[in-house]
Amino acid sequence: MPNQATAFGPGRVNLIGEHTDYNAGLALPFAISEGVTVRAAANRGGRIEALAADLDERDSFDLAEVEASDGWRGFVRGAVGELQRAGIAVAGAELELSGTVPRGAGLSSSAALEVALVLALLSLSDVAEPDRLDLAKLCSRVENDWVGAQTGLLDQIASLFGERDRALRIDFRSLEVEPVDLELGDFTLVVLDSGEEHTHAGSGYNERRAECAQAAEEMGVPTLREATLEMTERLPEPLSSRARHVITENERVREAVAALERRDMVELGRLLDASHASLRDCYAISTPSVEKAVARCKDAGALGARIMGGGFGGSVLALLPAGVVAPSGAVEVRPGPGAQVVAS
Ligand code: GLA
Repeated sequence: MPNQATAFGPGRVNLIGEHTDYNAGLALPFAISEGVTVRAAANRGGRIEALAADLDERDSFDLAEVEASDGWRGFVRGAVGELQRAGIAVAGAELELSGTVPRGAGLSSSAALEVALVLALLSLSDVAEPDRLDLAKLCSRVENDWVGAQTGLLDQIASLFGERDRALRIDFRSLEVEPVDLELGDFTLVVLDSGEEHTHAGSGYNERRAECAQAAEEMGVPTLREATLEMTERLPEPLSSRARHVITENERVREAVAALERRDMVELGRLLDASHASLRDCYAISTPSVEKAVARCKDAGALGARIMGGGFGGSVLALLPAGVVAPSGAVEVRPGPGAQVVAS
């Protein structure tokens, strides 16, 4: 049994394809270089002793009795609990968690944490890494069943499958993950925090998900992937608008992949703007602070800017051409490698 293991899970940026993952749709995220590191050291006591270094908070629990908890503790307990449910004998450990990705800013600090925890615990417990899609599903169950956020698989797949200089075209119906070159040349992608922290469990996220399920049911299709714009005309509001967002967003992902193949950044910017308008007007997940952040990016000269992630706060993503000065507080993001065990 190894004595220690360190794993890194990156956060993610979603270029386009928002609120499509739990609707069997399409998205185009990439892993970023900011993320969460988990250092695990074996202890023989049959307990997990965890330290969230950035918060200077601790947790301690018995491996034979893992119960749910709030905040970051919920993720640690959930990761251990789900590994155990998968039949893995998790070894007792001291865990130290630290991160460079801001929490609640829409960059998926949660997935980064789940993924880093699971990889570090597997390595310390001397268990070969399972298939990464299965790991993504396991990490997403941590969020669904232990933290109470009915999120999809977008963040976990992006964190686990990330590649340098590439985005990932994910088809959530077939779970096919296809890398797409993201060569930005003189252009830059930046994220700007709206200053409004969001949590998926507490926001309208679960409500949106339920609305989509209801829209699909009323149209008589298994998921919104099988729905057409024409079908949405017979739905009442707000279901009709919610479904329209998802259907048109899938199309924008296809168009974005085509634009990247042609290196047509102007078209990519137009698609980011169109995605934002749809998320604001049809999906109703924007807020005044998010609108302000989008306006600051556009005023600075962004080719496109949009709300990113679950919504109701968090960060805005903007595409800037060469020579444009990013608004103050904006941080450049680039596609980086996926999660890995960095030392054992
Ligand atoms: C959050 C969720 C993802 C996805 C996005 C919206 O990031 O965790 O599963 O639904 O929101 O695209």
